[in-house]
Amino acid sequence: MMRADYSIKSDPSLTEEDRLDNHWTENWNKIDNQRRAQWRIKVRPEYKVVRKYAPQPGRTVRVLDGGCGLGEWCILLKNLGYEPYGLDLSTPTVQALRSEFPDMHFVREDIRKTSFDDNFFDLYISWGTFEHFENGLQDCFQEAYRVLKPGGSLIISVPFYNRRLKDIDAKHGAPVKDNAINEFYQWRLEPDELANEFKINGFETKHIEPIYTREGLNRHMHHAYGFPYGKLSRLSALALSPFVDPRKYAHMLIGVATKK
Ligand SMILES: C[S@@+](CC[C@H](N)C(=O)[O-])C[C@H]1O[C@@H](n2cnc3c(N)ncnc32)[C@H](O)[C@@H]1O
Repeated sequence: MMRADYSIKSDPSLTEEDRLDNHWTENWNKIDNQRRAQWRIKVRPEYKVVRKYAPQPGRTVRVLDGGCGLGEWCILLKNLGYEPYGLDLSTPTVQALRSEFPDMHFVREDIRKTSFDDNFFDLYISWGTFEHFENGLQDCFQEAYRVLKPGGSLIISVPFYNRRLKDIDAKHGAPVKDNAINEFYQWRLEPDELANEFKINGFETKHIEPIYTREGLNRHMHHAYGFPYGKLSRLSALALSPFVDPRKYAHMLIGVATKK
């Protein structure tokens, strides 16, 4: 069963859309809009998967980045020769991207209901965004299905309900929502749940893989042994990650599927 993560309750008078806009704007402001360098994206595990499954680049090959954040992937895709479109709900983030890159396509829209035509994109990528809606992931999948061309690829990452978390939940019980103090934050999925989401929304699964073992290990050392987050914990996680089982520790899942 998908597992829900909760966060501390924000202003209850806000709509879900405004809450998400505020949350992510705050997040991006915190890192002072420092965009990751292109080489840093190229060493991310998502890049390896995109290189393997994306169509060949071309000016007519349209790619949507759903939840594009600071726009790094769109900039990379443009440099690689694709025609990228970045979409995000964080208003100031998208405004900044539009003024910095007037020749590129950046829109402030909701990933669940976009303004793009049917069958518009050859490739749709989305990192860590489909899982943020309490009613499930289906609205994102259905919109992805609508805007992708038949045969087009969808590549997404979602939080992984890994064995470490399953063990913790088996011992202590899964997190429970207390309406007085917390609110829904995100879903965590197992690989067969992601495959099922692809299937029921009209996609054929090509590949699913746990990624970010190092990040998951870093969290484990913090929660299980009180290791403070910092350089030392990052280096320890880096050294240990090749020796641990990704199914137990990986932080995210990446999935690739095509529109039937
Ligand atoms: C985990 S971040 C990922 C950002 C970026 N893809 C990356 O890998 O750095 C999730 C992004 O999704 C955006 N987002 C959240 N809800 C959204 C929605 N309903 N529609 C569009 N974007 C949304 C957030 O503003 C945020 O930029």
